[in-house]
Amino acid sequence: AEVCVIIPAAGSGTRLGEPVPKAFVDLDGATIIERCVDNIPESLGASIVVVVPADLVEHARELLPGVAVVPGGAHRSDSVRAGIAAAGDARILLVHDAARPLTPAHVFTRVVDAVAAGHPAVVPGVPVVDTLKQVAPDASGHELVTRTVDREELRAVQTPQGFTREALLRAHADDSGLATDDAGLAERCGIPVHIVPGDPLAMKITTPWDLRIIRDVVRETAA
Ligand code: CTP
Ligand code: MG
Repeated sequence: AEVCVIIPAAGSGTRLGEPVPKAFVDLDGATIIERCVDNIPESLGASIVVVVPADLVEHARELLPGVAVVPGGAHRSDSVRAGIAAAGDARILLVHDAARPLTPAHVFTRVVDAVAAGHPAVVPGVPVVDTLKQVAPDASGHELVTRTVDREELRAVQTPQGFTREALLRAHADDSGLATDDAGLAERCGIPVHIVPGDPLAMKITTPWDLRIIRDVVRETAA
């Protein structure tokens, strides 16, 4: 395939606090990872690689027929590299969090179209609605506001993040393990990163509150 979607799903979901790793939590009759894979638009003609905890590889293969499943690593970027290694020679690589299972098709196509148009790295982003303050500890250790950030200049970024194969390989060649997204690694080695409009439905499930919202959306959509 020309496009490969790599889905890191090997995290433990510590902040969610469910008894199973986050990607294997039930969302109204299907797991988060199943819904995430089902939600990738057929029109991309993409191959799919899912990266899961080592002890869940066999289970994931049963849940996800037709999908390549490989074991992940300790950090998200280790898992992404395991996915890249299994991605074959696709020209465009998308990295998409399992934790964003309701991402709309138009977000995928916008990202792929922008990479195909010649941008080496493209991420979906949405405006920030909250007012943001930068803080630092004061003399007694309490948080003191040092300035108000101009939110007009900020975007909250989502996935799928799209790359040319070359850009993603370069981004991951010198990873110190701290980046929370792949575009962050690309930025650090001077690869230009462009933003396309994201979507509220591409929200990430991180906390129990997020899961509650996503469950409501899934039920409403099914009804
Ligand atoms: N991920 C991964 N391998 C890791 C860590 C994270 O594949 N070692 C994946 C997660 O499964 C998730 C995505 O990266 O789909 C985004 O990470 P995050 O939302 O932080 O998920 P978790 O790491 O599972 O959650 P937490 O940080 O609360 O433990
Ligand atoms: Mg994490």
